Amino acid sequence: MKNNEAIEKRRTFGIIAHPDAGKTTLTEKLLLFGGAIQTAGAVKNNKIKKTATSDFMEIEKQRGISVATSVMAFEYAGKQINILDTPGHKDFAEDTYRTLTAVDSVILVIDAANGVESQTEKLMEVCRMRNTPVIIYVNKMDREGKDAFSLLDELEDKLDIKVRPLTWPIGMGDRFKGVYNLHDKSLNLFQVNKTKVEKDVVTISDLNDKTLDELVGEQFANELREEVEVINGVYDEFDREKYLAGELAPVFFGSAVNNFGVKELLDTFIQISPSPKGRETDARFIEPAESKFTGFVFKIHANLDPKHRDRIAFLRIVSGKFERNTFYQHVRQNKKMKFANPTSFMAQDKSIIEEAFPGDVVGLYDTGNFKIGDTLTEGENLQFKGIPSFSPEIFMELENLDPMKSKQLDKGIHQLTDEGVAQMFIVQPGNRKIVGTVGQLQFEVIQYRLTNEYGANCRFTPKPYTKAVWITSDNPEQIESFKRAKGNHLAKDKDDNLVFFAETQFLLDMAEKDYPDITFHKTSEFKLETI
Ligand code: G4P
Repeated sequence: MKNNEAIEKRRTFGIIAHPDAGKTTLTEKLLLFGGAIQTAGAVKNNKIKKTATSDFMEIEKQRGISVATSVMAFEYAGKQINILDTPGHKDFAEDTYRTLTAVDSVILVIDAANGVESQTEKLMEVCRMRNTPVIIYVNKMDREGKDAFSLLDELEDKLDIKVRPLTWPIGMGDRFKGVYNLHDKSLNLFQVNKTKVEKDVVTISDLNDKTLDELVGEQFANELREEVEVINGVYDEFDREKYLAGELAPVFFGSAVNNFGVKELLDTFIQISPSPKGRETDARFIEPAESKFTGFVFKIHANLDPKHRDRIAFLRIVSGKFERNTFYQHVRQNKKMKFANPTSFMAQDKSIIEEAFPGDVVGLYDTGNFKIGDTLTEGENLQFKGIPSFSPEIFMELENLDPMKSKQLDKGIHQLTDEGVAQMFIVQPGNRKIVGTVGQLQFEVIQYRLTNEYGANCRFTPKPYTKAVWITSDNPEQIESFKRAKGNHLAKDKDDNLVFFAETQFLLDMAEKDYPDITFHKTSEFKLETI
C-alpha cells in the first residue's frame, strides 16, 4: 500500500472517561460495529476490576491480558480505525495521559447523571495541551440524568471548550424516546436493544410534521420543537475546522449499553475526525507523508512474571513505513536496532506484522533499551516532543534498608522510572530520593518489583505534598530568594530541572503570587503549555 493511501485510511483515537461513565461499554459497541469482536463482553472481561485495588498482582495479571487489547484495530466504512485503550483505573492515569500523546483525536464519554467528574477534567486538560480534537458522547440517557442544556453549560464551563450538539435527546430515563439528529434531521427512536445493530430511523425534515407527534407524543414533540429553536439560536453551526483545532466539541446523546446513538457517533467520527497527524520534534516538524520512517515510544509494559522478564514498548508510527527486520536508529542511545517480531494488537489476537504506517501502533519486544519518549528514525538525529511528565499526586521518600544493595536499588528505581511507573526527584542534602506517582497502587508495584527483580530492600515514607511543578525564571535573583525561602520543598527531576513540591493548591497559588517572575509549569515540557 502507498503511504498516502494508508494515512488517509487511518483514524487513531482514544476513548476517555471518568471511571464508570461507560468507556468499556462504548468501546465494545464500536468493536461490534467493526466486526472486530462477535460477542458482547469480550472487552469487558479485560477491564481492570475496581474491587481488585488491594491486590495489585491481580491487577497486573489483568493488565497483562489487556495488553492484547491495548490497540484495537478494525475496518469500518473503508477506514482503518485504531482505538488506543486507556486504562480506566485512576491509579494508572499517567499511562492514560501518555497514551493521549499517541492519538489524533478522542471521544470523551460523560455519564448524563454525573456530568463532568474529576477525571474528566484532568483528561481534558491533557487533551487541550495538544489541541486534540474531542467528540463528546453523553451516555446513560436511559437513566434519569441532568437536563441536557445544563449539561452543555457544565461541559463548556468546566472543560473550557465550546460545544455544539449534533443530536438532541427527547426525554430521559423511563421516558427516553430517542434522539433527533440535528444535522440530517432524522429521528432515531430509542429501543432497549443490547444485541441488534439496526434501529428505527425516521426522517423528519420539518419538525412541524405531525408524524413527530405520532411517534413521540404531543408533549415531547412540542418540547423538541422549542428546544431545537433554542439550540439553533444559541449555538453556531458546527464548524469542522474549529473541531480539528480542538476548540469546539460536537456532542452526541445516547445509551451505550443499549447500543443507542453509537452508530451516529461512529459515522460522524469517520467523516470529521483527523487522519494521522504529524508531530513536533526538537529539530523540525515531521509530516506523516514523509517517506522516511519515524516513530516514538509512548508506553512500556513490563511483564511481572519472573519467568518472562520481557517488556513491550509501544511505538506510534509518525511518518514513513515501518518494516520488520530493518535497521532503525535509536536516537537517544545512538545505535541501530532491528526488530524481528514487531507485533500488532488487532483486537484479541496478537500477530507479527511486516509493515506499519503512520497512525499505527506496534509492540516491540524490549530488554531494557527503551524509555518513554524514545524516538526511532532512519538515521536522522531528532527527538519527538510532547511526551511530558505530569505532576504526580502522591509522594514518598524512598529509603534504602540495606546499604549493601544500594546499587541494585539505584538501578531498579532508574529502570522503573524509565518505564514510566513513577517519577523520581532528588532532594538535597544527601541525594534523597522522592518518588511520585498518581496512584497508591504504583508504590506496591514498585516495592514488589524492587524486591523481586532487583533484590533491593527498601521502604517508603509518605511526604505531605500533593503537587510537583517545574519552575523557571528569567530573574535569577528571584529564583535565589525562592530557593532560600522554600529550599526544603525543592528538588531536581531526572533531567536536572528544578521542581517545587507544594502541599496544597492554596500554597502553590500563594507561591505564584509571591514570586511573579517565576513560572510554575504543570508538566516537564514547558514549551508545550504555551502552544
Ligand atoms: P467504564 O469503562 O467507563 O468504567 O464504564 P463501563 O463501560 O464499565 O460502564 C460502567 C457501568 O455503567 C456498567 O455497569 C455498565 O453496564 C453501565 N452502563 C454503560 N452504559 C450504560 C447506559 O447507556 N445506560 C445504563 N443504564 N448503564 C450503562 P456495571 O453494573 O458496573 O457493570 P455490568 O455488570 O452492567 O456490566
